[in-house]
Amino acid sequence: MLIRPRRNRKSNSIRDLVAENNVSVNDLVYPLFLVDGKGIKQEVKSLPGNYRFSLDTVLIEIKECVSLGLTTFILFPAVDEKLKDKNATYGSDPANFYIKYITEIKRHFPTVTLISDVAMDPYSSDGHDGYVREGRILNDKTLPILAKMAVSQAKAGIDIIGPSDMMDGRIGYLREALDKEGYSDTSIMAYTAKYASAFYGPFRDALDSAPKEGDKKTYQMDPRNKKEAIREALLDIEEGADFIMVKPAVHYLDVIQELQSLSDVPVAAYHVSGECAMILAASEKGWLDLESTVSETLISLKRAGTNVIITYFAKYFAKLQK
Ligand code: PBG
Repeated sequence: MLIRPRRNRKSNSIRDLVAENNVSVNDLVYPLFLVDGKGIKQEVKSLPGNYRFSLDTVLIEIKECVSLGLTTFILFPAVDEKLKDKNATYGSDPANFYIKYITEIKRHFPTVTLISDVAMDPYSSDGHDGYVREGRILNDKTLPILAKMAVSQAKAGIDIIGPSDMMDGRIGYLREALDKEGYSDTSIMAYTAKYASAFYGPFRDALDSAPKEGDKKTYQMDPRNKKEAIREALLDIEEGADFIMVKPAVHYLDVIQELQSLSDVPVAAYHVSGECAMILAASEKGWLDLESTVSETLISLKRAGTNVIITYFAKYFAKLQK
């Protein structure tokens, strides 16, 4: 036998030497759920180890993360039901606690990178990402609402806005709105191939943001499709996206690989709440080893071609590296 592939696996050191992919904390983005108030750190039941934070407690959390080498955070607001309405008005209200928190976090940690959420659902009494009229989601009526939200976040100092709504044409629309208001340095991470997925459950628990009626299938993508993801990616890149994203992640590795091969901007993958919850639940039961399962999962995302990994395991992984 002339060729023995096992020679390149014979020791730890050689395995490290020939490793084709590695995960670094620099690749990771940590999602944080925010809530109005003081002294709040409330665990999300379906996502153990993740919390809803008020400003004071999130500053402590971010400080700890920064000391572990994590510097990028994606922020989501959990909004009081009383503040929700059809137009998601609170989303761009200067009194919105989320907007104020962005400014405060940047004031305390000017060098961290913050990614926002741009969509109506946290603020909408219908629980949809777009404007609802008689059960239909109106694309073009949603765009100006999103633009107002994005501009108010940019004004507050956000580094990257994250449109998660899946309306058509919103990347170009938001780019123009930001530029017109003087925020040409504010980046856009487009949720490009966001699928209508069953894996968002724990996230909707965290934010109480589940749709009041119907589902999100008229705007989020059909899990059966891949060509459609290419179509979305080409549009988002043409409209000025600085990053494109695939979401969920582990169940869509083929889509990540496909988009990486055509994209000239970095590809992010959102390892979503349900994907993380499955691992947490199995490891709590003693059925899976948490450390090796998380490491293997994150490396699989890199191998598929992910540049930026958004995961609820970011802090856990960073701790493992210490
Ligand atoms: C909604 C939004 C969702 C997530 C991020 N932004 C859920 C949804 O579309 O209902 C899910 C993230 C996760 O599950 O971790 N704009």
